[in-house]
This record gives sequence, structure tokens and C-alpha cells, in this order.
Amino acid sequence: QTLSARSLEALAQYIQDGRAQKIVVMVGAGISTSAGIPDFRSPETGLYANLARLNLPYAEAVFDISYFRNNPEPFYTLAQELYPGKYRPTITHSFINLLHQKGLLLKLFTQNIDCLEREAGVPADKIVEAHGSFAKQSCIECKKSYPEERMQEAIHKKWVPHCLDLSCNGLVKPEIVFFGEQLPAAFFENRNLPSEADLAIVMGTSLSVQPFASLPSFCEDRTPRLLINSEQVGDLGGRRDDVLMLEDCDSGVRKLAEACGWLEELEALWAK
Ligand code: OAD
Repeated sequence: QTLSARSLEALAQYIQDGRAQKIVVMVGAGISTSAGIPDFRSPETGLYANLARLNLPYAEAVFDISYFRNNPEPFYTLAQELYPGKYRPTITHSFINLLHQKGLLLKLFTQNIDCLEREAGVPADKIVEAHGSFAKQSCIECKKSYPEERMQEAIHKKWVPHCLDLSCNGLVKPEIVFFGEQLPAAFFENRNLPSEADLAIVMGTSLSVQPFASLPSFCEDRTPRLLINSEQVGDLGGRRDDVLMLEDCDSGVRKLAEACGWLEELEALWAK
């Protein structure tokens, strides 16, 4: 079902009345698909549906730490495509920045490793990169950090980097969180923030990976939760004040911005 105009208006009214001052935003790969980056689980276009060439036992193995330990090549075959840099933030990213500029953003939790939130202007201290990023790299055994230029060369030339400490010689990988690895401390330090939010916005995620997937459930029952996503996910829609916009993120944020009287401002921010 799509959102009725009335509940979108009710939500916009709630925002315009100044009742949403501490917004928590939770996002995933679906906010970057219109930038040209595939998501993971969309049936035809998602990354996991297009990995046959890597001969993996199952698609998610490419991001599994125990699989990587024995078979690092598939990840490094993909790494070049995943490496951030060549994409432009979407209007959805700019919408998050707009919330920040209006002083309404309490925290952004992202599962994405594309760094487009920062590029759109959201300051680093407002972002919890729950699944890490390509910003740092280290040895998976001794944890020693590894020089960025060498990592870029490895990714570009598709070789597998090893620890520079020859007595260790462990595999090196970007500090993106693999299955079987702990999330960054910042995630655990901030994971209770949804309980302080007066509005939650969930966009572009299938909410299928824990512990991130539980964040929306930490909101108080009375806190409105907005989902902008092509499909219904998690328990969104299960509470009285949940609002569902089952559609494209970019068109959803444009509608919300318009209802709040912010559309021109948003378009201008995005065009910068
Ligand atoms: P998924 O691919 O699992 O989910 C993306 C969601 O966004 C799906 O529900 C899509 O229907 C929806 N979607 C895609 N494009 C959209 C658009 N333009 N507008 C609206 N909705 C759209 O991606 P994530 O939920 O981010 O982790 O995946 C979570 C984690 O699984 C990732 O961080 C990654 C992956 O394995 C690791 O690698 C550790």
C-alpha cells in the first residue's frame, strides 16, 4: 500500500509544528542505487544476484571473514567496483544533510560503505558507519594498519595485500565489516539513540542484517517512524504511528520535502 496523502500531511504537520527536533535516520544500499551503485538483495540488479563469476559457495561469502581467510581473491576481484570515489550523492543524501542544516538530525546510522553521506555534507560526527568504510585498512590478524596508497594499488591492480610485518604476513582488508566481525564501537555507543528520537526515518534497507536491523525497534512506541523503501521491511508498519511510503527514495523525500515546504531548498542543496 502507498501512504495516503493524509498521513504524509500529518507527518509534515508534526515536523512543521516543531515536534521533530531529534530525528534519527537509518539507511542502507537502496539510497545509493540511483547514484549507480547496486544494492545487495534486489532480485535482478543486486550485487548478490550477480556474483556467478566468482564461484562462491553462497553470495554473502564474499563478505564473510572465515571465507575470506582462505579465499581472499573474490573480495579483491570485486573491491575495485565497490571502492568509493566515482559516484555523486543522490537527493536522498542531500535530504539528510538538509535535516542536519535545520538542526533536526540527531544521528544518521548507515550500513553503506560508499561515503556518499559525507560527500553530501553530513558531518562525520553525525554519522555512525555501522558497517565500517574504506577509509582505513588493516591486517586481519595483528590489526596493524596498512598504508592507504598500497591498498589503492592493490585494489586497482587486483592483488591481495598482506601485512607488512613479515613475521605476521596476515591478510589485509579494508575496515568494512564482514559477516563474522564485530561492528565498530561507535555503533554500540550510539545504538540507544533511537529511544531518544522524536522521529525515525528508515530508507533504502531490507533490514535483513543484525544488529543494525533492530535499531528501529528501539524507538519509543509513541515515536513516529517513516519508511521510504520500495518494499515493506522489518516491523515497519506494525505500529500505530508508522508511516509507509513504499516507493523510490528520491521521489519519497521530494514528496516529504514538498509537504514541509522545503522542496526548493532541497533541490538547491542537491544541485550545489
Ligand atoms: P539490501 O540490498 O539488502 O536492501 C536494499 C533495500 O532497498 C531493498 O529493500 C530494496 O527493495 C530497496 N531499494 C533499492 N533501491 C531503492 C530505491 N531506489 N528506492 C527505494 N528503495 C530501494 O541492502 P542493505 O539493507 O543495505 O553488509 O543491506 C544490508 C547489508 O547487507 C549491507 O550493509 C551489506 C550486506 O551484506 C555487509 O556487507 C556486512
